[in-house]
Amino acid sequence: MARIYLPDEEANLNPPVELEIGFGRGDFLERVSSLHPHVTYVGVDRSWGSVRRAYKRLKVRRNVHLVWGDAWEFLMFGMSKVRFHRVFSLFPDPWPKKKHIRRRMFNEDFWKLLSLRTGENAHVSVVSDERFFVRWAYRNALRSGCWWGYVSETESRFGTKYESRWLEKGKRVYQAVLVRLSECNFKIPRAELRFPRFKDVVRMPEMGTYPLKTGYLSVKEVIVSREGDRILIKAVVSEPHLLHKVWFVGFKTSMGWVLKPSEYSRFFPTKTLQEALDLLADLMCGRRIRT
Ligand SMILES: C[S@@+](CC[C@H](N)C(=O)[O-])C[C@H]1O[C@@H](n2cnc3c(N)ncnc32)[C@H](O)[C@@H]1O
Repeated sequence: MARIYLPDEEANLNPPVELEIGFGRGDFLERVSSLHPHVTYVGVDRSWGSVRRAYKRLKVRRNVHLVWGDAWEFLMFGMSKVRFHRVFSLFPDPWPKKKHIRRRMFNEDFWKLLSLRTGENAHVSVVSDERFFVRWAYRNALRSGCWWGYVSETESRFGTKYESRWLEKGKRVYQAVLVRLSECNFKIPRAELRFPRFKDVVRMPEMGTYPLKTGYLSVKEVIVSREGDRILIKAVVSEPHLLHKVWFVGFKTSMGWVLKPSEYSRFFPTKTLQEALDLLADLMCGRRIRT
């Protein structure tokens, strides 16, 4: 039976494993998983609606696994032992406006990250009705230095909702096909988190944005329990390609205070998150003041 994973979960999957980024309704996964029963398919999509709809159609498939999460988060922290043999991204959001370029997948860092998560001679296909986007993705792949390939108009049909929509409107379909040459120099910012301890709380962190070495901590709300032994801090920590939505919990123990991200948060173990934890602890125990 197909399973749904969170983006930072591990899995042991039988090779060969192929990945679809942004599976939408799951049309492509449905088709290829029945055509190639010996291949394991993983799909990642950040929309809950997509996961719900696709899972309904795919749950009886033994060779399909869905990941509910962002592609960056998944490629950095999920299924870390799996190396993908083929990757497909069909009609990804092209974000045509200049001010939205940051949101596009397939920038240079994305290709570098993909090179760590794919095997030797892996192929990646980026398919879109937007030629500018396919060319942009292709140029970034070449710039990364670890992919080689071509761009062409394609007659191949993938049978997805967006493909039908654009073909009905008379649009053409383009693809960039890239072959992995080597592993790129890219560091996944994983860290072993340490929970700071301190003797006493002398002040509460103020609401606002605090710069970190490679990102920002934004404190949204602070709640203190009536007994004064628990402090909840609602915050957002941002860093390149990742956004952590965290409720930090400070609680008093017989040995002093401990500060942790609560389990109800959505965070990943990175150096920037550690820096945010350390900064909050320093502010609370008075080792640092906000300037
Ligand atoms: C335009 S739709 C295309 C869906 C499908 N491939 C098709 O051709 O019909 C783009 C899909 O990518 C997903 N998506 C967009 N950005 C994503 C990201 N960073 N990580 C994972 N999924 C993403 C969206 O939720 C959406 O389902």
